Amino acid sequence: MSINRRDWLKTAFLGSAALTLSPLEFFARETPNFAELKKDDATIRLCFNENPFGTSPKALEAMQKSLNFSSMYDFKFADVLCEKLAEKNQLKKDNILVSAGSSFLLELITKYVSINKGHIIIPNPSFTIFEPIAEFLGMSKSVIPLTEHKEIDLEKMKSSIRKDTKLIYICNPNNPTGDLLSRQEMDTFIQSVPDNITILVDEAYIEFTSQKSLGDLVNQHKNLIVTRTFSKLYGFAGARLGYAIGYPKMIENLKKLQSWSGAEISVVTMAGAIAAMDDQEFITKVFDNNQKVKDFTNSEFQKRGIKTIPSSANFVYFSLENYKGDYFKKLKEAKILGGKTYEEKGKWTRISLGTMEDMKRYFEVIS
Ligand SMILES: Cc1ncc(COP(=O)(O)O)c(C=O)c1O
Repeated sequence: MSINRRDWLKTAFLGSAALTLSPLEFFARETPNFAELKKDDATIRLCFNENPFGTSPKALEAMQKSLNFSSMYDFKFADVLCEKLAEKNQLKKDNILVSAGSSFLLELITKYVSINKGHIIIPNPSFTIFEPIAEFLGMSKSVIPLTEHKEIDLEKMKSSIRKDTKLIYICNPNNPTGDLLSRQEMDTFIQSVPDNITILVDEAYIEFTSQKSLGDLVNQHKNLIVTRTFSKLYGFAGARLGYAIGYPKMIENLKKLQSWSGAEISVVTMAGAIAAMDDQEFITKVFDNNQKVKDFTNSEFQKRGIKTIPSSANFVYFSLENYKGDYFKKLKEAKILGGKTYEEKGKWTRISLGTMEDMKRYFEVIS
């Protein structure tokens, strides 16, 4: 089963409804009272691949300062942000498109490729949140299962190309498996795909690897578009910021589907994002924690005879086949949000990596 938008939202809703109000729900429903918010500290969120350390402190400081500009329309900030992102990726400003989270870029790209109808190729399971939009816009699809090693099956994707194929989506590292296709594999694949087909590479988790983004290939391959997010490494899942890297003409075309590109992102978020990119201390802390916690998590699963897929992201995909007991019931009772099931009649599930303390508690609970 792939993670489409409805499933994703449903998981989010069920996950929180089953428990007391989450801090965010509380914030949305009540007059904010920060002392009260602490009440829900007991919930451990291991279900949305969020940053267990919150948001970059440098970003938070910049966001606080920018609050005073909340009443004003901004006409320049998105440009400044694009310039900074271009510099970071050694590209030009016109290679970059920013948005309020990368989900909206996946949506925008789907709408763009669907203009004259056609066919899309997607792996399964993967982060195919845009699938219902493509369907609604009349696109047909080929859904390609993972290989037996839980890798995205590039060969099958290639052989599924039709005359009317408009889009191939590849999530790298893939969500929910964490499997990473190498640059070499991706490069060979991209070269083998006809250049009238848009190749969308979702790199939401690339920062958790030492592999270079494919962003530097967009000027060579005009049909390649890469999406990135601030939600994970920088902790912007609630603040919302994502960006796409593409050939200037591709970026220009995508912007034609927006009435005011960049205006969906608040000044506060943009100020935070600019500061977050320079918060090296936080970046290193998050990256190092993720590696350590991942090693610990893999070895704890191994001790219990639970099969895992090697992950290049901030979560681990594992099989419930050898698990004795009601895994989800145990998590629920312990107020741990822990995701849903996938593939082979629900045999597989995914757990996000929290702090070491979170994971120790998690293993105590599922033992
Ligand atoms: C692979 C992948 N792409 C994109 C997103 C959406 O991220 P954003 O918060 O930038 O919309 C997620 C969210 O979890 C994801 O897992």
